[in-house]
Amino acid sequence: MNSALEPAHEPGPVTAEAPSNIAFIKYWGARDLEGDSEGPVPFNRSLSMTLDACRSICSASPLPEGSDDEIHWVQEPAGGRSSAAEEAPPAFVERTKRHLDRLREWSRQTAAPYAGGFRIATGNTFPSAAGIASSASGFTALTLAASACMGFDLTPRMLSALSRSSGSGSAARSAWGGYVEWPDGDGNAAVQILDERAWELCDLVAVVETGAKKVSSRDGHRRATSSPYFAPRLAALDGRLERVRSALCGRDFEALGDAVEEEGIDLHLIAMSSRPPVYYWSPGTIEVLAAVRELRADGVAAYATMDAGANVHVICQPADAGQVEERLVALGSVERVLRDRTGGPPVWRGGAEL
Ligand code: DP6
Repeated sequence: MNSALEPAHEPGPVTAEAPSNIAFIKYWGARDLEGDSEGPVPFNRSLSMTLDACRSICSASPLPEGSDDEIHWVQEPAGGRSSAAEEAPPAFVERTKRHLDRLREWSRQTAAPYAGGFRIATGNTFPSAAGIASSASGFTALTLAASACMGFDLTPRMLSALSRSSGSGSAARSAWGGYVEWPDGDGNAAVQILDERAWELCDLVAVVETGAKKVSSRDGHRRATSSPYFAPRLAALDGRLERVRSALCGRDFEALGDAVEEEGIDLHLIAMSSRPPVYYWSPGTIEVLAAVRELRADGVAAYATMDAGANVHVICQPADAGQVEERLVALGSVERVLRDRTGGPPVWRGGAEL
């Protein structure tokens, strides 16, 4: 596929920014999780909203052939300008280097194979372990930065497929802005359904737990098929995804929220009934879910969804965001509320800013 790909510009230092995303229909359960080629093959289609404020920023600079890759971690960089590079955790360094090897390998099928090293400095604009997919934005930013640093201009489809080869399935969806669907089976790239200007929604993340989750998404994916409810879930998903898609296209917020909340609970039903079971929720999760139901009883359209963690993403329309936030911050178990909304695609520019 990439045999004829020519570089579009000279290799050189660049900075890329890529958004995180919140899944309305979750990717949960996959084949080929260990494979080192094209990445995981999901059992079901997933659909997400790209976020705006929650992003990863990554600078990549070329190093001479034979140099080791250098990986630096930057704490919460503000809009691409930060300096305090820190010692990156070893597991992060290892995963990052493995993906850089994959990208060098990929470049061998192009017209400009790259054999040099990379100096990488990267960080997230949001706190890690806040229930926001940092690997989705992180691997997309890394893929975009490294490919642009090698001189390539990737299409969103290529960026999606290459980001997913990192092993983070949700990264496949961060290559586009707006609303994005990642097909199941062997289809390796996600596609955009609606762009970010089509409909602006808010995602208020009620942070009730900040520690790292005890069971990784990867282990959760592995265990998913052991749940007796996994087959019924797959059977119901086509219909639920269709409800989400048609609610998005028809801008029907109540219909959207209803399907999104049902799906958020379903993911955890599978996790809790897997063998061995995975409990991501904490008492704070239940408190926020109850508050969201109360908001609705009071006439405020707000709906909850959770990824593989205890924190709750509350989806609402911009006009209701202030009221929703007020209710969430007043809850005893909520440490903070991160306010986000529908966001655009990843971008890159020349120069290493981190
Ligand atoms: C629950 O394998 O993409 O967020 O690499 O740990 O971010 P990480 O996870 P990944 O699985 C994501 C699972 C999910 C649902 C989703 O985003 O679709």
